[in-house]
Amino acid sequence: MARDKQDIDRGVLEPGAAMDEKTFDLTLRPRLLDEYIGQTKHRANLRVFIEAARRRGEPLDHVLFCGPPGLGKTTLAHIIANELGVTLHATSGPAIDHKGTLAALLTKLGPRDVLFIDEIHRLTPIVEENLYPAIEEFEIDIIAGDGPHAASYKLPLSPFTLVGATTRTGLLTSPLLSRFGVTIRLDYYPPEDLVQIVRRSASLLCVPVDDDGAFEIARRARGTPRIANRLLRRVRDFAEVEANGRISLQLARHALARLEVDEAGFDEMDRRILRAIIEKFGGGPVGVETIAAAVSEPRDTIEDVYEPYLLQGGYLQRTPRGRVATRRAYEHLGAPFDEGLQRRLF
Ligand SMILES: Nc1ncnc2c1ncn2[C@@H]1O[C@H](COP(=O)(O)OP(=O)(O)OP(=O)(O)O)[C@@H](O)[C@H]1O
Ligand SMILES: [Mg+2]
Repeated sequence: MARDKQDIDRGVLEPGAAMDEKTFDLTLRPRLLDEYIGQTKHRANLRVFIEAARRRGEPLDHVLFCGPPGLGKTTLAHIIANELGVTLHATSGPAIDHKGTLAALLTKLGPRDVLFIDEIHRLTPIVEENLYPAIEEFEIDIIAGDGPHAASYKLPLSPFTLVGATTRTGLLTSPLLSRFGVTIRLDYYPPEDLVQIVRRSASLLCVPVDDDGAFEIARRARGTPRIANRLLRRVRDFAEVEANGRISLQLARHALARLEVDEAGFDEMDRRILRAIIEKFGGGPVGVETIAAAVSEPRDTIEDVYEPYLLQGGYLQRTPRGRVATRRAYEHLGAPFDEGLQRRLF
């Protein structure tokens, strides 16, 4: 829900298109490990863990996926359940508003089922505490009655697998973190992997695309499968309305320019953030709260959605005193870089 709003804010999704976007996502979502592209190392490890659990007839160890939005955390949770041949029960941190809700979810689980908690960093402390005995001993404490007659019972649960997803590992408490047997940190995808995702999606959507057209979309998708799929869909619109329906390199370039996705794959908000740091705050250091206010975007969105990509691309640097725009950011925006000033600051 919040994500849809963020995406509308990001200008990637037009208002009212949220439902459509969901169907689209579902159509393109890989269902098995073999269909999942990239993240080779993690995929190979997961395959081993899943196979081992299946052979022993045991539930898979609890798994945590971390990483920026749109890299495939939810997709992998579903894949795990599909590969294990069990049911996935999906919920999210904010949806489990008290321990009763949690108990209702847990008692519904069948043997070896997957309980998927998205945004797991947003569980309340009480719910989190109640989750511990469930994931450690497969039992929950139930309190019956109240006052002096209250009694606490242990209710056994079916052994299950908890799959958590978070964009913010830093916000997870260490007792919760330590209870996951497997932690997988998803990285941004290199263009070689994204191009395969674009080609796979294009073929599922029956959109003809040239190799270099697909690569152009992949290269500018901010390392993110969800953005690659979304750009493909938008570029397809241009191909159908303004050309012969085929996505060539020229058509992709034209459409991406119209969508204001630049050479580095930045959209309007990425550029606004860099421009604010450079033009309003002399290149930094500047606190993230101040940046958020300058571009009128919630701090969380800046930290979850925009900053990780700018940091890993070397456009932004995190220092103890705040964020600093690098020479690369100046060059990208065509702003003059004052080396002397930067040296005096550090
Ligand atoms: N490795 C992949 N191969 C092919 N398609 C992928 C891959 N990873 C993600 N996708 C596509 O990208 C879309 C977004 O992925 P997903 O919803 O799993 O991301 P997420 O990490 O859960 O994001 P969020 O943090 O926003 O919940 C999926 O619908 C799927 O089509
Ligand atoms: Mg998700």
